[in-house]
Amino acid sequence: MKDFLINIRNKIISFLYKTLAKPVFFQIDPETVHNLILIFGKFLGSNPITRFLTKLLFYYSDKKLSQTILGIHFPNPIGLAAGFDKDAELTKILPEVGFGFIEVGSITGLPCEGNPRPRLWRLKKSKGLVVYYGLKNEGCEKIAKKLKTAKALLWPSHQSFAQAKHLIPVGTSIAKTNCKETSTCQTGIDDYVKAYKEFTEIGEYFTINISCPNTFGGEPFTNPEHLDKLLTEIDKIKTQKPIFLKISPDLFNDQINKIIEVVEKHKIKGFICTNITKNRNNAKILEKNLPKEGGVSGRPLKDLSDKLISYVYTKTKGKYVIIGCGGIFTAEDAYKKIRLGASLLQLITGMIFKGPQVISEINQGLAKLLKKDGFKNISEAVGKNHVEVERLNRDKIVF
Ligand SMILES: Cc1cc2nc3c(=O)[nH]c(=O)nc-3n(C[C@H](O)[C@H](O)[C@H](O)COP(=O)(O)O)c2cc1C
Repeated sequence: MKDFLINIRNKIISFLYKTLAKPVFFQIDPETVHNLILIFGKFLGSNPITRFLTKLLFYYSDKKLSQTILGIHFPNPIGLAAGFDKDAELTKILPEVGFGFIEVGSITGLPCEGNPRPRLWRLKKSKGLVVYYGLKNEGCEKIAKKLKTAKALLWPSHQSFAQAKHLIPVGTSIAKTNCKETSTCQTGIDDYVKAYKEFTEIGEYFTINISCPNTFGGEPFTNPEHLDKLLTEIDKIKTQKPIFLKISPDLFNDQINKIIEVVEKHKIKGFICTNITKNRNNAKILEKNLPKEGGVSGRPLKDLSDKLISYVYTKTKGKYVIIGCGGIFTAEDAYKKIRLGASLLQLITGMIFKGPQVISEINQGLAKLLKKDGFKNISEAVGKNHVEVERLNRDKIVF
Protein backbone atom coordinates (compact mmCIF):
# COMPACT_ATOMS: atom_id res chain seq x y z
CA MET A 1 0.00 0.00 0.00
CA LYS A 2 2.81 2.42 0.99
CA ASP A 3 4.60 1.74 -2.30
CA PHE A 4 1.39 2.15 -4.31
CA LEU A 5 0.73 5.59 -2.77
CA ILE A 6 4.34 6.72 -3.18
CA ASN A 7 4.23 5.62 -6.79
CA ILE A 8 1.17 7.80 -7.44
CA ARG A 9 2.71 10.71 -5.52
CA ASN A 10 5.90 10.50 -7.60
CA LYS A 11 3.95 10.27 -10.87
CA ILE A 12 1.97 13.43 -10.03
CA ILE A 13 5.09 15.40 -9.05
CA SER A 14 6.97 14.15 -12.10
CA PHE A 15 4.09 15.27 -14.35
CA LEU A 16 3.95 18.71 -12.70
CA TYR A 17 7.72 19.13 -12.99
CA LYS A 18 7.72 18.12 -16.66
CA THR A 19 4.77 20.26 -17.70
CA LEU A 20 5.03 23.31 -15.43
CA ALA A 21 8.37 23.82 -13.65
CA LYS A 22 10.86 22.53 -16.22
CA PRO A 23 9.55 24.51 -19.22
CA VAL A 24 9.89 27.70 -17.15
CA PHE A 25 13.29 26.82 -15.64
CA PHE A 26 14.69 25.85 -19.04
CA GLN A 27 13.85 29.31 -20.44
CA ILE A 28 16.06 30.98 -17.79
CA ASP A 29 19.87 31.09 -17.51
CA PRO A 30 20.87 27.84 -15.71
CA GLU A 31 23.04 29.49 -13.06
CA THR A 32 20.21 31.90 -12.19
CA VAL A 33 17.87 28.92 -11.73
CA HIS A 34 20.50 27.18 -9.60
CA ASN A 35 20.80 30.27 -7.37
CA LEU A 36 17.00 30.58 -7.03
CA ILE A 37 16.74 26.92 -6.04
CA LEU A 38 19.42 27.42 -3.39
CA ILE A 39 17.46 30.35 -1.90
CA PHE A 40 14.19 28.37 -1.99
CA GLY A 41 15.85 25.24 -0.55
CA LYS A 42 17.38 27.25 2.27
CA PHE A 43 13.95 28.67 3.10
CA LEU A 44 12.37 25.18 3.04
CA GLY A 45 15.04 23.95 5.44
CA SER A 46 14.59 26.86 7.82
CA ASN A 47 11.46 25.72 9.67
CA PRO A 48 9.80 22.45 10.75
CA ILE A 49 6.59 22.97 8.78
CA THR A 50 8.24 23.34 5.37
CA ARG A 51 10.60 20.50 6.21
CA PHE A 52 7.65 18.28 7.09
CA LEU A 53 5.80 19.19 3.87
CA THR A 54 8.91 18.52 1.80
CA LYS A 55 9.22 15.14 3.46
CA LEU A 56 5.60 14.30 2.68
CA LEU A 57 6.17 15.13 -0.98
CA PHE A 58 9.54 13.51 -1.57
CA TYR A 59 10.71 11.10 1.14
CA TYR A 60 11.07 7.36 0.63
CA SER A 61 12.72 4.71 2.79
CA ASP A 62 13.26 0.98 2.61
CA LYS A 63 15.46 -1.14 4.91
CA LYS A 64 16.92 -3.00 1.92
CA LEU A 65 18.59 0.23 0.83
CA SER A 66 20.38 1.05 4.09
CA GLN A 67 24.03 0.16 4.61
CA THR A 68 26.81 0.79 7.10
CA ILE A 69 29.96 1.51 5.15
CA LEU A 70 33.30 2.44 6.75
CA GLY A 71 31.41 2.90 10.04
CA ILE A 72 28.92 5.38 8.53
CA HIS A 73 25.20 4.64 8.32
CA PHE A 74 23.68 5.49 4.93
CA PRO A 75 19.85 5.26 4.93
CA ASN A 76 19.90 4.83 1.14
CA PRO A 77 22.64 4.84 -1.53
CA ILE A 78 21.61 8.00 -3.44
CA GLY A 79 23.72 11.03 -2.59
CA LEU A 80 23.87 14.55 -3.92
CA ALA A 81 27.15 14.98 -5.84
CA ALA A 82 29.58 17.82 -5.12
CA GLY A 83 28.87 21.08 -6.91
CA PHE A 84 25.15 21.58 -6.28
CA ASP A 85 25.41 22.65 -2.63
CA LYS A 86 28.82 24.28 -2.89
CA ASP A 87 28.51 26.42 0.25
CA ALA A 88 26.57 23.97 2.48
CA GLU A 89 23.28 25.88 2.35
CA LEU A 90 20.94 22.90 2.00
CA THR A 91 22.00 20.39 4.68
CA LYS A 92 18.68 20.78 6.54
CA ILE A 93 16.38 20.22 3.57
CA LEU A 94 18.17 17.60 1.44
CA PRO A 95 17.49 14.74 3.89
CA GLU A 96 13.75 15.46 3.54
CA VAL A 97 14.06 15.33 -0.26
CA GLY A 98 15.09 11.71 0.30
CA PHE A 99 18.85 11.77 -0.25
CA GLY A 100 20.89 9.16 1.62
CA PHE A 101 23.89 11.47 1.94
CA ILE A 102 25.16 14.83 0.71
CA GLU A 103 28.54 16.01 -0.50
CA VAL A 104 29.13 19.74 0.00
CA GLY A 105 31.69 21.78 -1.92
CA SER A 106 34.07 21.50 -3.53
CA ILE A 107 35.61 23.65 -0.82
CA THR A 108 38.97 25.35 -1.25
CA GLY A 109 41.55 26.95 1.05
CA LEU A 110 40.60 30.47 -0.06
CA PRO A 111 37.20 31.90 -1.01
CA CYS A 112 36.87 31.72 -4.79
CA GLU A 113 34.63 33.59 -7.24
CA GLY A 114 35.11 30.90 -9.87
CA ASN A 115 35.35 31.53 -13.61
CA PRO A 116 33.51 34.44 -15.28
CA ARG A 117 29.85 33.92 -16.26
CA PRO A 118 28.33 32.33 -18.30
CA ARG A 119 29.71 29.10 -16.85
CA LEU A 120 26.79 26.66 -16.94
CA TRP A 121 24.93 25.50 -20.06
CA ARG A 122 22.22 22.91 -20.72
CA LEU A 123 22.56 20.25 -23.39
CA LYS A 124 18.84 19.67 -23.88
CA LYS A 125 19.15 16.98 -26.56
CA SER A 126 21.95 15.06 -24.87
CA LYS A 127 20.48 15.46 -21.35
CA GLY A 128 23.66 16.89 -19.94
CA LEU A 129 25.22 20.11 -18.70
CA VAL A 130 28.42 21.88 -19.58
CA VAL A 131 29.98 23.03 -16.31
CA TYR A 132 32.64 25.71 -16.09
CA TYR A 133 32.07 27.08 -12.57
CA GLY A 134 35.77 26.81 -11.68
CA LEU A 135 35.25 25.86 -8.04
CA LYS A 136 33.21 28.88 -6.94
CA ASN A 137 32.79 28.65 -3.16
CA GLU A 138 32.92 30.74 0.01
CA GLY A 139 36.17 29.16 1.21
CA CYS A 140 36.92 26.64 3.95
CA GLU A 141 36.66 28.92 6.99
CA LYS A 142 33.19 30.29 6.32
CA ILE A 143 31.74 26.93 5.23
CA ALA A 144 33.23 25.11 8.25
CA LYS A 145 31.62 27.65 10.60
CA LYS A 146 28.26 27.18 8.87
CA LEU A 147 28.37 23.38 9.13
CA LYS A 148 29.43 23.47 12.77
CA THR A 149 26.31 25.41 13.70
CA ALA A 150 23.92 23.41 11.50
CA LYS A 151 22.11 21.48 14.23
CA ALA A 152 20.64 18.05 13.69
CA LEU A 153 16.85 18.29 13.65
CA LEU A 154 15.95 14.67 13.89
CA TRP A 155 12.74 13.25 12.48
CA PRO A 156 11.47 10.11 14.25
CA SER A 157 12.71 8.00 11.32
CA HIS A 158 16.23 9.26 11.91
CA GLN A 159 16.30 8.66 15.68
CA SER A 160 18.51 5.63 15.29
CA PHE A 161 21.29 7.89 14.02
CA ALA A 162 20.94 10.22 17.00
CA GLN A 163 24.72 10.07 17.39
CA ALA A 164 25.25 11.56 13.97
CA LYS A 165 26.09 15.22 13.70
CA HIS A 166 23.83 15.64 10.69
CA LEU A 167 20.52 14.13 9.63
CA ILE A 168 22.29 12.09 6.97
CA PRO A 169 26.03 11.68 6.29
CA VAL A 170 27.70 14.80 4.96
CA GLY A 171 30.84 14.53 2.87
CA THR A 172 33.18 17.47 2.50
CA SER A 173 34.78 17.71 -0.93
CA ILE A 174 38.16 19.43 -0.80
CA ALA A 175 39.85 20.94 -3.85
CA LYS A 176 42.63 23.41 -4.59
CA THR A 177 41.75 27.10 -4.94
CA ASN A 178 41.37 28.09 -8.58
CA CYS A 179 44.06 30.78 -8.84
CA LYS A 180 47.61 31.35 -10.04
CA GLU A 181 48.99 31.40 -6.48
CA THR A 182 48.17 27.71 -5.88
CA SER A 183 49.40 26.42 -9.20
CA THR A 184 52.74 24.90 -8.12
CA CYS A 185 52.80 21.47 -6.50
CA GLN A 186 53.75 22.80 -3.04
CA THR A 187 51.35 25.78 -2.97
CA GLY A 188 48.61 23.45 -4.23
CA ILE A 189 49.29 20.98 -1.40
CA ASP A 190 49.29 23.80 1.17
CA ASP A 191 45.89 24.91 -0.09
CA TYR A 192 44.38 21.40 0.09
CA VAL A 193 45.85 20.91 3.59
CA LYS A 194 44.47 24.26 4.83
CA ALA A 195 40.92 23.37 3.73
CA TYR A 196 41.24 19.76 4.90
CA LYS A 197 42.29 20.79 8.43
CA GLU A 198 39.14 22.90 8.83
CA PHE A 199 36.94 19.82 8.44
CA THR A 200 38.68 17.08 10.43
CA GLU A 201 35.85 17.17 13.00
CA ILE A 202 33.02 18.22 10.66
CA GLY A 203 31.04 15.88 8.43
CA GLU A 204 31.26 12.12 8.05
CA TYR A 205 33.71 11.63 5.17
CA PHE A 206 36.22 13.53 3.02
CA THR A 207 36.60 13.65 -0.72
CA ILE A 208 39.84 14.83 -2.23
CA ASN A 209 38.88 16.22 -5.62
CA ILE A 210 41.83 15.98 -8.01
CA SER A 211 39.73 16.00 -11.16
CA CYS A 212 38.14 19.43 -11.63
CA PRO A 213 38.79 20.19 -15.31
CA ASN A 214 38.01 23.92 -15.00
CA THR A 215 40.80 25.41 -12.93
CA PHE A 216 44.00 27.38 -13.48
CA GLY A 217 46.86 24.97 -14.14
CA GLY A 218 44.69 21.92 -14.99
CA GLU A 219 44.69 18.76 -12.87
CA PRO A 220 48.28 18.54 -11.51
CA PHE A 221 47.47 15.91 -8.87
CA THR A 222 46.63 13.22 -11.39
CA ASN A 223 50.42 13.09 -11.75
CA PRO A 224 51.42 10.15 -9.47
CA GLU A 225 54.43 11.96 -7.92
CA HIS A 226 52.37 15.02 -7.03
CA LEU A 227 49.53 12.83 -5.74
CA ASP A 228 51.96 10.88 -3.56
CA LYS A 229 53.23 14.12 -2.03
CA LEU A 230 49.70 15.44 -1.45
CA LEU A 231 48.50 12.22 0.19
CA THR A 232 51.63 12.04 2.36
CA GLU A 233 50.70 15.43 3.84
CA ILE A 234 47.03 14.45 4.18
CA ASP A 235 48.04 11.23 6.04
CA LYS A 236 49.76 13.34 8.71
CA ILE A 237 46.50 15.08 9.69
CA LYS A 238 44.56 13.24 12.40
CA THR A 239 40.91 12.50 11.67
CA GLN A 240 38.46 9.60 12.03
CA LYS A 241 36.80 10.42 8.73
CA PRO A 242 37.37 8.09 5.75
CA ILE A 243 38.76 9.67 2.57
CA PHE A 244 37.60 9.19 -1.02
CA LEU A 245 39.53 10.25 -4.11
CA LYS A 246 37.44 11.72 -6.95
CA ILE A 247 38.88 10.85 -10.34
CA SER A 248 38.35 11.90 -13.93
CA PRO A 249 36.63 9.79 -16.62
CA ASP A 250 39.23 11.01 -19.14
CA LEU A 251 42.18 9.09 -17.67
CA PHE A 252 43.82 6.23 -19.59
CA ASN A 253 44.07 2.84 -17.89
CA ASP A 254 47.81 3.18 -17.26
CA GLN A 255 47.20 6.53 -15.53
CA ILE A 256 44.51 4.92 -13.36
CA ASN A 257 46.85 2.03 -12.54
CA LYS A 258 49.50 4.50 -11.35
CA ILE A 259 46.96 6.40 -9.24
CA ILE A 260 45.85 3.12 -7.64
CA GLU A 261 49.50 2.23 -6.92
CA VAL A 262 49.94 5.56 -5.11
CA VAL A 263 46.62 5.28 -3.25
CA GLU A 264 47.62 1.85 -1.91
CA LYS A 265 50.41 3.52 0.08
CA HIS A 266 48.04 5.96 1.78
CA LYS A 267 44.87 6.22 3.87
CA ILE A 268 42.38 6.51 1.01
CA LYS A 269 39.37 4.20 1.51
CA GLY A 270 37.53 4.69 -1.74
CA PHE A 271 37.06 6.30 -5.14
CA ILE A 272 34.40 8.50 -6.66
CA CYS A 273 33.93 7.50 -10.29
CA THR A 274 33.59 10.07 -11.78
CA ASN A 275 33.92 13.81 -12.28
CA ILE A 276 32.75 15.54 -15.50
CA THR A 277 34.36 14.77 -18.88
CA LYS A 278 36.33 17.24 -20.95
CA ASN A 279 36.44 15.00 -23.98
CA ARG A 280 34.19 16.37 -26.75
CA ASN A 281 34.65 13.27 -28.95
CA ASN A 282 31.70 11.55 -27.38
CA ALA A 283 28.96 10.05 -29.56
CA LYS A 284 26.44 10.71 -26.81
CA ILE A 285 26.89 14.49 -27.16
CA LEU A 286 24.27 15.39 -29.75
CA GLU A 287 24.67 19.19 -29.83
CA LYS A 288 27.04 20.64 -32.45
CA ASN A 289 28.22 23.94 -30.98
CA LEU A 290 29.41 23.25 -27.49
CA PRO A 291 31.13 25.94 -25.40
CA LYS A 292 34.89 25.49 -25.75
CA GLU A 293 35.50 25.46 -22.00
CA GLY A 294 33.99 23.22 -19.36
CA GLY A 295 33.24 19.59 -18.61
CA VAL A 296 30.13 17.62 -19.53
CA SER A 297 27.83 15.90 -17.02
CA GLY A 298 24.73 13.74 -17.38
CA ARG A 299 23.84 11.18 -20.05
CA PRO A 300 27.03 11.57 -22.14
CA LEU A 301 29.00 10.66 -19.00
CA LYS A 302 27.07 7.54 -18.05
CA ASP A 303 29.03 4.88 -19.97
CA LEU A 304 32.37 6.48 -19.08
CA SER A 305 31.43 6.35 -15.42
CA ASP A 306 30.23 2.72 -15.69
CA LYS A 307 33.51 1.72 -17.36
CA LEU A 308 35.61 3.42 -14.69
CA ILE A 309 33.62 1.83 -11.84
CA SER A 310 34.05 -1.57 -13.42
CA TYR A 311 37.76 -1.05 -14.06
CA VAL A 312 38.59 0.20 -10.56
CA TYR A 313 36.48 -2.53 -8.91
CA THR A 314 38.12 -5.38 -10.81
CA LYS A 315 41.63 -3.91 -10.73
CA THR A 316 41.49 -3.49 -6.93
CA LYS A 317 39.47 -6.71 -6.42
CA GLY A 318 36.73 -4.83 -4.57
CA LYS A 319 39.15 -3.58 -1.90
CA TYR A 320 37.95 0.03 -2.12
CA VAL A 321 34.50 1.52 -1.60
CA ILE A 322 33.30 3.01 -4.88
CA ILE A 323 30.84 5.88 -5.17
CA GLY A 324 29.40 5.72 -8.69
CA CYS A 325 28.56 9.08 -10.24
CA GLY A 326 27.67 10.19 -13.75
CA GLY A 327 24.46 10.09 -15.78
CA ILE A 328 22.12 8.45 -13.27
CA PHE A 329 18.53 9.21 -14.32
CA THR A 330 16.68 5.97 -13.44
CA ALA A 331 16.72 3.04 -11.02
CA GLU A 332 18.13 0.88 -13.85
CA ASP A 333 21.07 3.30 -14.30
CA ALA A 334 21.71 3.17 -10.55
CA TYR A 335 21.40 -0.62 -10.31
CA LYS A 336 23.86 -1.13 -13.17
CA LYS A 337 26.49 0.92 -11.35
CA ILE A 338 25.91 -1.10 -8.16
CA ARG A 339 26.26 -4.42 -9.99
CA LEU A 340 29.46 -3.11 -11.59
CA GLY A 341 30.98 -2.38 -8.16
CA ALA A 342 29.59 0.86 -6.69
CA SER A 343 28.35 0.70 -3.09
CA LEU A 344 27.02 4.26 -3.12
CA LEU A 345 25.87 6.63 -5.87
CA GLN A 346 25.68 10.35 -6.50
CA LEU A 347 23.86 12.56 -8.99
CA ILE A 348 23.00 16.11 -9.99
CA THR A 349 22.00 16.24 -13.67
CA GLY A 350 19.26 13.58 -13.45
CA MET A 351 17.54 15.68 -10.78
CA ILE A 352 17.70 18.80 -12.95
CA PHE A 353 16.22 17.06 -16.01
CA LYS A 354 13.63 14.89 -14.22
CA GLY A 355 12.77 16.79 -11.02
CA PRO A 356 13.54 16.27 -7.32
CA GLN A 357 11.14 13.28 -7.01
CA VAL A 358 13.72 11.33 -9.03
CA ILE A 359 15.54 10.44 -5.78
CA SER A 360 12.45 8.66 -4.46
CA GLU A 361 11.76 7.10 -7.89
CA ILE A 362 15.29 5.67 -8.05
CA ASN A 363 15.21 4.39 -4.47
CA GLN A 364 11.82 2.77 -4.94
CA GLY A 365 12.91 1.24 -8.24
CA LEU A 366 16.14 -0.05 -6.68
CA ALA A 367 14.24 -1.77 -3.88
CA LYS A 368 12.11 -3.55 -6.53
CA LEU A 369 15.13 -4.58 -8.63
CA LEU A 370 16.89 -5.99 -5.55
CA LYS A 371 13.80 -7.99 -4.61
CA LYS A 372 13.45 -9.31 -8.16
CA ASP A 373 17.04 -10.59 -8.11
CA GLY A 374 16.63 -12.11 -4.64
CA PHE A 375 18.89 -9.75 -2.69
CA LYS A 376 17.95 -8.93 0.90
CA ASN A 377 20.16 -5.83 1.00
CA ILE A 378 21.82 -3.58 -1.51
CA SER A 379 25.27 -4.60 -0.28
CA GLU A 380 24.66 -8.14 -1.63
CA ALA A 381 24.36 -6.77 -5.19
CA VAL A 382 27.62 -4.76 -5.21
CA GLY A 383 29.94 -6.05 -7.95
CA LYS A 384 27.64 -9.00 -8.75
CA ASN A 385 28.14 -8.63 -12.53
CA HIS A 386 31.81 -9.51 -12.15
CA VAL A 387 31.08 -12.54 -9.98
CA GLU A 388 28.67 -13.82 -12.63
CA VAL A 389 31.18 -13.25 -15.45
CA GLU A 390 33.79 -15.17 -13.42
CA ARG A 391 31.35 -18.03 -12.88
CA LEU A 392 30.48 -18.16 -16.59
CA ASN A 393 34.18 -18.24 -17.47
CA ARG A 394 34.78 -21.03 -14.95
CA ASP A 395 31.89 -23.01 -16.43
CA LYS A 396 33.61 -22.85 -19.84
CA ILE A 397 36.70 -24.67 -18.55
CA VAL A 398 36.65 -28.33 -19.70
CA PHE A 399 38.61 -30.85 -17.63
C1 LIG B 1 26.70 22.46 -11.69
C2 LIG B 1 27.75 21.46 -11.35
C3 LIG B 1 28.82 21.82 -10.53
C4 LIG B 1 29.79 20.88 -10.19
N1 LIG B 1 30.81 21.22 -9.34
C5 LIG B 1 31.62 20.26 -8.85
C6 LIG B 1 32.54 20.54 -7.81
O1 LIG B 1 32.64 21.65 -7.30
N2 LIG B 1 33.33 19.52 -7.37
C7 LIG B 1 33.26 18.26 -7.88
O2 LIG B 1 33.97 17.37 -7.42
N3 LIG B 1 32.39 17.96 -8.87
C8 LIG B 1 31.57 18.93 -9.35
N4 LIG B 1 30.66 18.62 -10.32
C9 LIG B 1 30.61 17.25 -10.86
C10 LIG B 1 29.55 16.40 -10.13
O3 LIG B 1 29.88 16.26 -8.79
C11 LIG B 1 29.42 15.02 -10.78
O4 LIG B 1 30.65 14.36 -10.70
C12 LIG B 1 29.00 15.10 -12.25
O5 LIG B 1 28.07 16.12 -12.47
C13 LIG B 1 28.40 13.78 -12.74
O6 LIG B 1 27.16 13.51 -12.15
P1 LIG B 1 25.76 13.80 -12.91
O7 LIG B 1 25.91 13.27 -14.29
O8 LIG B 1 24.74 13.09 -12.10
O9 LIG B 1 25.57 15.28 -12.87
C14 LIG B 1 29.70 19.56 -10.72
C15 LIG B 1 28.64 19.22 -11.55
C16 LIG B 1 27.67 20.13 -11.87
C17 LIG B 1 26.54 19.71 -12.77
